[in-house]
Amino acid sequence: MSTEARLAAWAARAEAAIERRLPAATAIPARLHAAMRHACLNGGKRIRPQLVFATGHLFGADEGALDDVAAAIELIHAFSLVHDDLPAMDDDDLRRGRPTVHVAFDEATAILAGDALQSLAFETLTHVAAPAETRLVLIDTLARASGSLGMCGGQQLDMDATGSLLARSDLERLHALKTGALIRASVRMGALVGAADAAMLERLDGFAADLGLAFQIRDDILDVEADDIQLGKTAGKDAAQDKSTYVALLGLEASKRLLAELSEKMKAALGPLSERADGLRRLAEFAVARAY
Ligand code: IPE
Ligand code: IPE
Ligand code: MG
Ligand code: MG
Ligand code: MG
Repeated sequence: MSTEARLAAWAARAEAAIERRLPAATAIPARLHAAMRHACLNGGKRIRPQLVFATGHLFGADEGALDDVAAAIELIHAFSLVHDDLPAMDDDDLRRGRPTVHVAFDEATAILAGDALQSLAFETLTHVAAPAETRLVLIDTLARASGSLGMCGGQQLDMDATGSLLARSDLERLHALKTGALIRASVRMGALVGAADAAMLERLDGFAADLGLAFQIRDDILDVEADDIQLGKTAGKDAAQDKSTYVALLGLEASKRLLAELSEKMKAALGPLSERADGLRRLAEFAVARAY
């Protein structure tokens, strides 16, 4: 199977795994369940689930055991997007080419849908087909990555920094938390299911940190260079809202040079690994060069 086909198959597995864990749209309260389904199904690049599967594949992990891990990380990601789009945060009305959850439903429903997606993510991890000890470590990993020292903490730094110009090290930390934390957790959880040793966990964690930073720098660049149709979300919002981004701090050209440097670092980190790491190699290329 080609690497492209494998990545597409992993995205499809993730979609099915999420669908399996979500309550039916008719389950009461139907409005909440419809909003949760709107937030997670039929859209999104599924890069975090692909990272879970691609990392697990490196260690020959059972794909069935990775399904619920992939679903859990994407449920947390979807929750983060629903809340990120709220009027109190980025106030966006377009996401994945459709109205955001608070626009399609209402604000209270969007807040509750985010809350419930977060709970469902952890419930999903309790079902992973792996030993109980592994499940505990997965729950710990995802909880830390999504909490106040991870994604939520990064979102707080992002809100606090809006309207000001951060020092480069502070912006790097902001990006490492708001976006890097979930990307690192994706790779780490795939490796944990694959029973990776400490040295591999460390090598892959360095790789994932670079990928997370690259992914958000590319997001900052696309906000300037792409349009709504291409992105499925409103372009040009960062400048309009005076967000702290790499483009605002360093400009487009220096941001692109930094992406090229991160790309080389990621190649070096994967260099010694076999062709079983080709999924990760392709995802690293995608992170720096993606057009959507
Ligand atoms: C958007 O994430 C938010 C960021 C962390 C940049 P994605 O670009 O992965 O969004 P979807 O899941 O594909 O919609
Ligand atoms: C969002 O960053 C990161 C999280 C949702 C945690 P952005 O605010 O840049 O993401 P987009 O551009 O709205 O997708
Ligand atoms: Mg934001
Ligand atoms: Mg946003
Ligand atoms: Mg953005």
